[in-house]
Amino acid sequence: MKTRTKLLLGNWKMNKTLREAKAFARESVELSALAMANNVELGVAPTFLCLEAVRKTNPDIIVAAQNLHYEPKGAYTGEISIPMLKEIGISWSIIGHSERRQYNGESSLSCNRKVLAMIENDMTPVYCCGETLEEYESGITKAIVRNQIRTGLSGVAKDKASRIVVAYEPIWSIGTGVNASKEIAEEVCGFIREVLGEMFGTTVASEIRILYGGSVKPDNIKSYLSAKDIDGALVGGASLDIQSFKALLENIL
Ligand code: 13P
Repeated sequence: MKTRTKLLLGNWKMNKTLREAKAFARESVELSALAMANNVELGVAPTFLCLEAVRKTNPDIIVAAQNLHYEPKGAYTGEISIPMLKEIGISWSIIGHSERRQYNGESSLSCNRKVLAMIENDMTPVYCCGETLEEYESGITKAIVRNQIRTGLSGVAKDKASRIVVAYEPIWSIGTGVNASKEIAEEVCGFIREVLGEMFGTTVASEIRILYGGSVKPDNIKSYLSAKDIDGALVGGASLDIQSFKALLENIL
């Protein structure tokens, strides 16, 4: 069984101009060295406009897109394809973030097409799942998450599935400062691994990294990472400032 390398990924959402992204990338060079020396993978997901510049400025940081289209080209105004990303050296993308599900009409079914296209192209999807506050309060979190995982990752070949990263982000905890307790996050992430086990077998499921996301800050990241099934964090607000990003990293070393 392979051990799962810890992963800290910053999701910049619609933040940072090109100039700001380059400045961050320059300052992140030493953080990448620190991460590598401690066997932690460090990454950021800038906007499309900044992907190439960040990658060139810091070749040692994982640079992920925040979305992509499943068709290689065609009449899809405003979209970005996998060949376009690959040409500039990008092989990771967040898929199905709750904000895209909420504001851009994405569903687990449309995410599935993206995941399959990425796997076909040897890319790494960071597939997001998570329940709304209403669903959480109704006690149906696991049913929701199970459905998101089973639909979104349907049809992925067992021998390719270990490259997938899953992010559990309860929607009620995103950007609200109301982070899920370690116990909730631990329970749901453990459940996600069970569902992955049903789909891909327990060995493959034990190799898939599962991140927690939602109001992760330097002062709470360590407790999440101490949970057996949580292998890292997907961080929004606290990943934007280099000092805070540094503190997130230092607190999981
Ligand atoms: P916050 O860390 O700002 O709550 O955002 C979480 C998130 O959506 C990461 O993808």
